[in-house]
This record gives sequence, structure tokens and C-alpha cells, in this order.
Amino acid sequence: MTSNKVPRRTFLKASGAAFASRSVVLEQTAPAASSERLRIGIIGIGMQGSGLLPNAISLPGIECVGAADLYDGRHLLAQQITGNPKLPTTRRYHDLLDRKDIDCLIAAVPDHWHMRVVVDACNAGKDIYCEKPMSHTAEQGFEMVKAAADNKRIVQIGSQRVSSELCKKARELYKQGAIGEIEMVELSLGRNDPTGAWVYPPPPDLSPQNLDWETWLNDAPKIPFDPVRFARWRCWKEYGTGVGGDLMVHLISGMLYTLDWNKAPRSAMALGGIFRFKDGRNMPDLHTVLFDYDGIPVYVRLDLCSETPEFARFLGPKGVLEATGKTLRYVPQSGQDTEPSYYANSFPREMHERYVEEWRREHHQIWGAEAIDSETHYDGPDWDDVRPHLWNFFQAVRSRKPVAEDAVFGNHAAIACHMANESYFRRCPVRWNEAERRILSENGAG
Ligand SMILES: NC(=O)c1ccc[n+]([C@@H]2O[C@H](COP(=O)([O-])OP(=O)(O)OC[C@H]3O[C@@H](n4cnc5c(N)ncnc54)[C@H](O)[C@@H]3O)[C@@H](O)[C@H]2O)c1
Repeated sequence: MTSNKVPRRTFLKASGAAFASRSVVLEQTAPAASSERLRIGIIGIGMQGSGLLPNAISLPGIECVGAADLYDGRHLLAQQITGNPKLPTTRRYHDLLDRKDIDCLIAAVPDHWHMRVVVDACNAGKDIYCEKPMSHTAEQGFEMVKAAADNKRIVQIGSQRVSSELCKKARELYKQGAIGEIEMVELSLGRNDPTGAWVYPPPPDLSPQNLDWETWLNDAPKIPFDPVRFARWRCWKEYGTGVGGDLMVHLISGMLYTLDWNKAPRSAMALGGIFRFKDGRNMPDLHTVLFDYDGIPVYVRLDLCSETPEFARFLGPKGVLEATGKTLRYVPQSGQDTEPSYYANSFPREMHERYVEEWRREHHQIWGAEAIDSETHYDGPDWDDVRPHLWNFFQAVRSRKPVAEDAVFGNHAAIACHMANESYFRRCPVRWNEAERRILSENGAG
């Protein structure tokens, strides 16, 4: 979720260092705007769009000049957020693509619309910030990567964590060798309330008169107008990507960034089910996954039935890095015995004494000077603040330099989510076939 709570002063400090380029440099093209000012359009002013919009226009030089949404109630909302009752609004996002005075776009539409909106925007010559997860299926991601590359467009995918100072610090510590070579990653997030499980209240006035329901469905099966599906689309695979695409994608993106990886997992093995929210959804409310990232196990637990703090834990021979919402904790480990082995307690007394004496001599144990435990905490602005990530996008639109999370990176993060879902639905491990760009069942079936 977006947050409006971080004071602007904190944001400016945080954002300043967040622009380090870390992916393929886009071919230079002329800046989208001749001045510093950027005129933006927004597509989708729902739960996330209504957070992105005020954050975007709070940034220097950013002006919103158009808004598109299939539900008319959100036209009014866009006008209220911008404080401009005359803000041009439309149901057709193509109207924004056609406008020459719009420099770039923000899209916060449901997952089953990401591909079409991004491809259309790129083909129309518009740079675009599109929400996560990048795609609804693995195949779609490659169409989006191609559209961005073919049109030389800046595409930023909205896993805002990768622009956070905390993530940057984690990456810096890892690169410095703080924990040694990574051995394993644990990612976890648990909620336990209906809102956390996407049981959202539909807008009370929603009707086929003020919502273009047929268009909203996109390529999903045609069904009669359903306000519950409109508000709670995450619960169904026809529109959303479940806890994988909704929540895990943030954890995976943060992990890829921290470890400087830019790849899909080799395989995934998932277990889960619908344990509490038996409300007609087809997406699991408990989803556990074990990924293989070229031999490194990445274990994930996503739970809507039991609340536990969100964390990403990186384990190596020299210590542990643990990131939570606002804190990064680094616990170094010597990896050495600090006392003679307790196994030697099983030796007869004289043998034991000789062993202990020898051990102390060999290990130069100095009495009264035992090592102290040291643990470092880094407290930062919330890694879910969207402003550094939006700012990173707007700066890239101005400079044509790479963004923090381009389409290639976003695609790799999304593929992990699709693999987790495919493994859950196929009830078997799956692997990624890079040559065919396909998720295959472990037995080789497609
Ligand atoms: N980065 C984050 O932390 C974060 C948080 C929440 C949501 N999200 C992502 O944001 C996206 C939107 O989620 P949401 O919760 O705001 O959904 P939402 O249903 O609340 O809002 C989506 C809006 O898009 C509109 N829409 C749908 N198709 C459209 C189209 N073709 N043209 C114009 N408007 C269209 C809908 O009418 C709706 O108003 C999702 O991809 C979600 O995963 C990201």
C-alpha cells in the first residue's frame, strides 16, 4: 500500500541517492519534456492510483493533466485529489495516449490489464510507470519487454521497495561481503483480517451505468456485472495473481535488488490452499513456495490467515541480514567455536582435560576478553514509500537514464510469481525454460 506519512524532508534525503543506475542503459533519445516540468496522465485511480497520484504531484515539477478510469466515480476522485475540478477525465485510456501534451503515464489498473496498457503506451511513444506485478502471465512479460525496447521507452514497474534507502543499504552491505556468499533467503508475510485478505467493500453506487464493465473484464471470461469482482479482483486468477503477484512480488523484487540478481528462478515448488476465506475465490489464502535460484534456496511463506511481521532474511556464513518495513538488522557471525566442543564432555576425565587444554592453547583463548556480540540496526523511511520510486521514474523520463526497475527486471520478478501460482494450481513442481520462455511442469509437460 502507498503511504503519505513520510515527511517531505525525509523523502528528499532518501531519494537523492536512489538513482544509481543498475540495468541496461537505454538508448539515448531526446528528453520527453524540454523544460523541467512534466505533464502526466494517470490510468486507474482506484486504491493504489489514489495513493500514487497525490504522491506524484507532491514532487517538484509534476503536474497531472488527465485521468482515465472505467468507473466514473474515480474521475471525480482524480479531480478532488488534484484540486482541479476541470481536470480532463475519460473512460478511454487511449485518449491520454493520443494527447501530445502528456509526457508520461502512471498506470494502476488490475493485473489483467497491465500488458495491454503498457504495450499500447509504448507503441504510442509514452513512457510509463506501471504497477506490479508486471504481467498477468509469463508470456505477457516478454511482449512488454519487447514493446519497451522497440519503442525505446522508459518503463518503471511499481515495486517501490527497490528505490528505498533500506534496500540500497542491504545491497551495499551484501556487496561488501557482510554475510559472505549468500546461502539461503527466507521471505515471509502474514495478515489476518478481511481487508488484508482483499475483502474490500465495492463502491456503493457502482452500476453498469457508471462503470464500463465489459471493458473492465478485458480478456477474462464474460460474466454479468459483479461489483464484488470489481472490488476484490485479487481473489480470482482471471484478473489477479494472488498473494504471489500482490505481495510476494515486493519481497522477490527486494531480494533480486539486494543480491544484484536479475533472473528468473530455475524451479519452484508450492503448497497452499484456501484455509479461511472460503468466499468463492480461487486464489489461495496460504501459499508457501520453495524456489531454486541457481542452487540457492529461497523459501517464501505468504499467509492471509495468521498475522506475522513481514521480513526478508538473507543468510550467509558470516552473518544474517534481516529487513523489515523500516529497519535493516545486520548480525555478524564469526562462524567459529568460542568454547571447546561439548562433544568432548563424553571423553573420560583425563582425556577431556587434555583436549580442553590443547584447544585453549591452539585457539589462544584469553580469559576475560571474550568477543562481544555486535548487531547493527539501520532505521530508514518505510520501504513502501512510493515517492522515491516515482521520482526515480520522473528523473529517468527527463534524463533518459535507466530506471530502478525496468521491464526486464520487472519481468523476472513477475515470472517467479507466475511459477509459484502454476506450481500451486498444477499441484507439482515447475521449472523455468529460458529458451522457450515457458513454465514447464517438473515432468516436462507444459
Ligand atoms: N505497489 C504497491 O504497493 C501496490 C499496492 C496496491 C496495489 N498495487 C497494484 O496496483 C494495481 C491496481 O490495484 P488497485 O488496488 O488500485 O485496484 P482497484 O481495483 O482499486 O483500482 C483499479 C482501477 O483501474 C480501473 N481500470 C481497470 N481497467 C481499466 C482500463 N482499461 N482503463 C482505465 N481504467 C481501468 C478500475 O476501474 C479501477 O478504478 C494492481 O496492479 C495492484 O497490484 C500496487
